[in-house]
Amino acid sequence: ADPGIAALREMIAAARRAVVFTGAGISTESGIPDFRSPTGIWTQMRPIYFQEFVGSPEMRREAWRRKFASDPVLRAARPNRGHRAVARLVSMGKASAVITQNIDGLHQASGVPADKVIELHGNSTYAHCLECGERYELDALREAFERDGDVPDCGACGGLVKTATVSFGQAMPEAAMIRAEAETRACDLFLVLGSSLVVYPAAGFPEMAKRNGARLVIVNNEETPLDDIADLVIHRGIGEVMGTVVGNN
Ligand code: NAD
Ligand code: APR
Repeated sequence: ADPGIAALREMIAAARRAVVFTGAGISTESGIPDFRSPTGIWTQMRPIYFQEFVGSPEMRREAWRRKFASDPVLRAARPNRGHRAVARLVSMGKASAVITQNIDGLHQASGVPADKVIELHGNSTYAHCLECGERYELDALREAFERDGDVPDCGACGGLVKTATVSFGQAMPEAAMIRAEAETRACDLFLVLGSSLVVYPAAGFPEMAKRNGARLVIVNNEETPLDDIADLVIHRGIGEVMGTVVGNN
């Protein structure tokens, strides 16, 4: 028996109110690449910053080209053992919320009620106008893009339309940030699954939890900058670890 697994099982048993915090690593076992591991997306291409999207029609075209190119992978993805274990922690009443940096919707697909998923970096299943917020479905936008190379503008106000994800340089969603902070302050166990913990403000939540007296656990294949302050670090696959610890999936 792995001592890390036994320790995690005990910490979960002892917790009254846990929060699960996830990054792209929880979704790699569903076939979605992460960003920073050796096979990650940012080793293939450079991110498009928000200012570049807003400032240049060529960048907007490139952003939409990438979006439509990567969409089949996101659409085909199904929840894996890691997602199912997290859903079980929520349904047992052990975890009060799932704070995620992911935009893939797999926590909701695995059965976590939508009101318990806090999406810090938005959602990639629809688009919206950056000026007036009007919502746009991707299918129609894709059709126009593929047919005429059209980069969408808002039919209501003429503003720029962008996937409802948060890019570098873009403001964080305020309501999600407020809820994430309240959940972080209220928990006694903060469980990080599959995040490199290098992107702020998201990576500030595990730090805040620890400062506030919660126990901090990190499950990640690679080292992270917060390993030193964690109460328990397990450098192994999430599906295996969480499937074993939570069981029944
Ligand atoms: P997008 O929907 O076009 O996605 C960009 C790429 O990320 C795609 O290639 C997609 O396949 C991949 N991807 C999506 N979800 C993933 C996941 N769970 N795991 C691994 N890869 C995933 O989005 P966009 O509007 O071009 O924005 C780019 C990306 O930048 C978004 O994924 C967004 O979350 C992210 N982002 C947020 C912040 C932030 O901290 N504020 C910073 C940088 C990037
Ligand atoms: N089991 C355990 N760890 C894994 C697994 C797995 N199956 N797969 C990947 N990992 C680990 C990787 O080793 C890596 O350290 O998950 C981590 C994922 O880190 P990143 O790729 O940096 O993803 P994330 O932390 O979510 O990135 C934060 O940056 O680009 C932006 O907006 C994007 O939300 C994203 C944010």
